[in-house]
Amino acid sequence: SSKIKTTFACTECGAQSPKWAGRCTECGDWNTLVEEITGGDDPADLPLPSTKRSGPMRIGDVPTDLARPISTGIDELDTVLGGGLVAGSVTLLGGEPGIGKSTLLLQLLAARSGTTLYVSAEESGQQVRLRAERLDAIRPDLWLHAETALPHIIQAIDDTQPELVVIDSIQTVADPALSSPPGSVGQVRGCAHRLVTEAKDRNIAIVLVGHVTKDGNLAGPRVLEHVVDTVLQFEGDRHHALRLLRAVKHRFGPTNELGLFEMVGAGLVAVPDPSTLFLADRRTGVPGSAVVPTMEGRRPIVLELQALTNEAMPNVPARRSAQGLDSGRMSMLMAVLGRRGRLKVGEQDIYASAVGGAKVTEPGLDLGLCLAVASAMRDTPLPADLAVFGEVGLGGEVRQVSHAQRRVTEAARLGFKRVIVPAKSPEPDDELGAQVRLIRVQTVIEALRAAG
Ligand code: TYD
Ligand code: MG
Repeated sequence: SSKIKTTFACTECGAQSPKWAGRCTECGDWNTLVEEITGGDDPADLPLPSTKRSGPMRIGDVPTDLARPISTGIDELDTVLGGGLVAGSVTLLGGEPGIGKSTLLLQLLAARSGTTLYVSAEESGQQVRLRAERLDAIRPDLWLHAETALPHIIQAIDDTQPELVVIDSIQTVADPALSSPPGSVGQVRGCAHRLVTEAKDRNIAIVLVGHVTKDGNLAGPRVLEHVVDTVLQFEGDRHHALRLLRAVKHRFGPTNELGLFEMVGAGLVAVPDPSTLFLADRRTGVPGSAVVPTMEGRRPIVLELQALTNEAMPNVPARRSAQGLDSGRMSMLMAVLGRRGRLKVGEQDIYASAVGGAKVTEPGLDLGLCLAVASAMRDTPLPADLAVFGEVGLGGEVRQVSHAQRRVTEAARLGFKRVIVPAKSPEPDDELGAQVRLIRVQTVIEALRAAG
């Protein structure tokens, strides 16, 4: 069927409706419906190829080796993916323009043995080649095709028979068979669907690049997140060299592991000791600074939280600014500090940040943020050899967090001698106990007192 029809698609969730509405009936977002003309050839509408279908099986007979990850050759990426990329799968790498997506993926293709294909739908072949030279990524079995038309891209896959394909970016690929304009929701979704089918049929891994906007959404269609197997998010502050890679959706493994890279002249390199990097510029004896051993997946990272407080203007709501931290969480903690800690936070403008361009949202940070703000308000530094972690509840109680032992160990490794911890944290072993003293607290008030 190739009947032309008009539909409306939600740019947030991808839901389709036959007529326009101010609000998407699927996800409830406002003003997200855009008109689409479809030729009825949307690959999403086509039935799945029946040759690959098999009937029901006993669960124990289902082969397991199909979804085994293959190492990418880049350790940090393997960590995030739980081993590597899975053949037959499609991964979406999202990130702001300029963050380093193309760089990471060229390095990925070069690190992998076997035939790989880089499809550049944004930059010319020369541009990509020059970058590849800088990255030392010139390999005889790395193929490059600068192309935006989907049929030609699939032809290139046919011609080169790669094990791994990168499409940079999915937003600039278009299928002329679809009547919606390039970059539209219909195009992006249609092309992604087709590539998912190709990956499965050929049992190859495909990685799609997707640009995201400032607020972290995939530009246009969030719908891609539902189409692909894995969604990776590449983030960082463009003014810092640090780059954080996380899986936000992963059909084949964990979604809580963090990969850390540094952008240097020769591309992205792994950061083997993030704590040391994060603490490198720390000045001791400054009010408003607290050191927190936090957990990213299975990896402990010690970082510095900074707070600055200033008397608020009268009759104006006090300012609250959180950089690299969850602002809703910060508001809640300030309310707890005010009510349970009896600090006059309501009359203060409060600025807080996680230092080094990190983005962290983990309950173990709560107590550190409270102590940093209290230290700023009292204009008294915390002891230089003190670290702190713990979740803070609405009652002002300090709650246990995961991996207390690993957090303490990492703090001790970096030379901290005292750690304020939730009261019920497990006892450290003798060796650790000799290096560091635990100060157990049950409430925020106790922690404020213990911090001096
Ligand atoms: P890029 O991979 O093009 O970002 P994206 O594909 O996400 O838009 O890289 C972005 C920036 O990284 C670019 O402005 C220059 C810088 N860069 C380096 O510092 N070193 C390098 O080796 C490369 C390739 C890029
Ligand atoms: Mg790019």
